[in-house]
Amino acid sequence: MGIRMPLSDYKTALVTGASAGIGSVVVERLAKQGLEVHAVARDAERLAELARRTGCVPHAVDITDTAALTDLVSGLEVDVLVNNAGVSRTGNILSADEFAVDEQVAVNLRAVLHLVRLAMPGMVRRDRGHIVNIGSIAGVYNFGGNTIYHATKAAVHTLSRQLRVDGYGRRVRVTEICPGRVETEIFGRLLGDMAQAQREYYDGYESLKPEDVADAIEFALETPRHVNIGHIEILPTFQVPGGLNFERRTD
Ligand SMILES: NC(=O)c1ccc[n+]([C@@H]2O[C@H](COP(=O)([O-])OP(=O)(O)OC[C@H]3O[C@@H](n4cnc5c(N)ncnc54)[C@H](OP(=O)(O)O)[C@@H]3O)[C@@H](O)[C@H]2O)c1
Repeated sequence: MGIRMPLSDYKTALVTGASAGIGSVVVERLAKQGLEVHAVARDAERLAELARRTGCVPHAVDITDTAALTDLVSGLEVDVLVNNAGVSRTGNILSADEFAVDEQVAVNLRAVLHLVRLAMPGMVRRDRGHIVNIGSIAGVYNFGGNTIYHATKAAVHTLSRQLRVDGYGRRVRVTEICPGRVETEIFGRLLGDMAQAQREYYDGYESLKPEDVADAIEFALETPRHVNIGHIEILPTFQVPGGLNFERRTD
C-alpha cells in the first residue's frame, strides 16, 4: 500500500458551478470531509442556502469575469480545484448563433484555463494539489449536434492531460471526469424549460445522479498520493456511445 492522500491533507477547495447539479453535491461532500470549500456560481441566493447547509464559503461570481476570478483566487491557497461549471446550447455549427459560441467557450473553456492559470502555480510551489476537470463524453466521442459543446469539452480533455506535463515532478494531480447523462438542470437551462427537459431527457431513463459523479471525484481525490487517476468515464448502464454514419449518395 502506498501512502494515502486522505482529504484531510488538503485544506482548501474551490468548486465552480456550485449552485446546482453536480457542483452542489461536490461542495457538500468536500465540506463534510472538513475542507474549507469556496463555492462559486452566479446565483447568490442558492449559494447562501448551500452555505447555511454545508458551511461552505459562497462567492457569487460569473466565471466569465476574469478580473473577479483573479480577485477570488488571489487570497486563497487552493489545494483542490474542481472546474465543474458548464453550459450547453442546442444546435450544431450550422445553426448556432453568436451567443452559443461565445458563452460555451467562455464558461466551459476560457474560465477553466484562467482558473488553472491562477491556482496551479501555488499548487506547484506547495508541492500539493489536485485539479479535477469535469469534461464530458462529448469531449471524446462524436454524437448528436451540440458541436460547440463537443469542441470545448475536447479542449478540456486535452488540457487535462497537458496539465500533467506542466506539473511534472511535483505532487499535483489532475483528473478528468467524463460523465454521460446526469440528472441535473443542464438540459432545462438549454431548453429554457425544466419540466420539458425532465420529460424529454430524464423521465423513463436511468440517468446518473450527481451523487454518482461526486463518488467518482471522491475516489480520485482519496487515492494514495503516488496515484493519479487521469480519466474517469462514467455513464449510465443503458447509455452507450457508438454508431457510425455513412451516407449513400447516388447523385
Ligand atoms: N448533466 C449532464 O448530463 C452532464 C454530462 C456530462 C458533463 N456534464 C458537465 O457537468 C458539469 C456540471 O453540470 P451540471 O449537469 O451539474 O449542470 P447544472 O445543473 O446546469 O449546473 C451548472 C452550474 O454551473 C453554473 N454556471 C453556469 N454558468 C456560469 C457562469 N457563467 N459563472 C458561474 N457559474 C456558472 C450554474 O450556476 P449559476 O446559474 O448560479 O451561475 C450551476 O451551478 C458541466 O461542466 C457539464 O458540462 C454534465
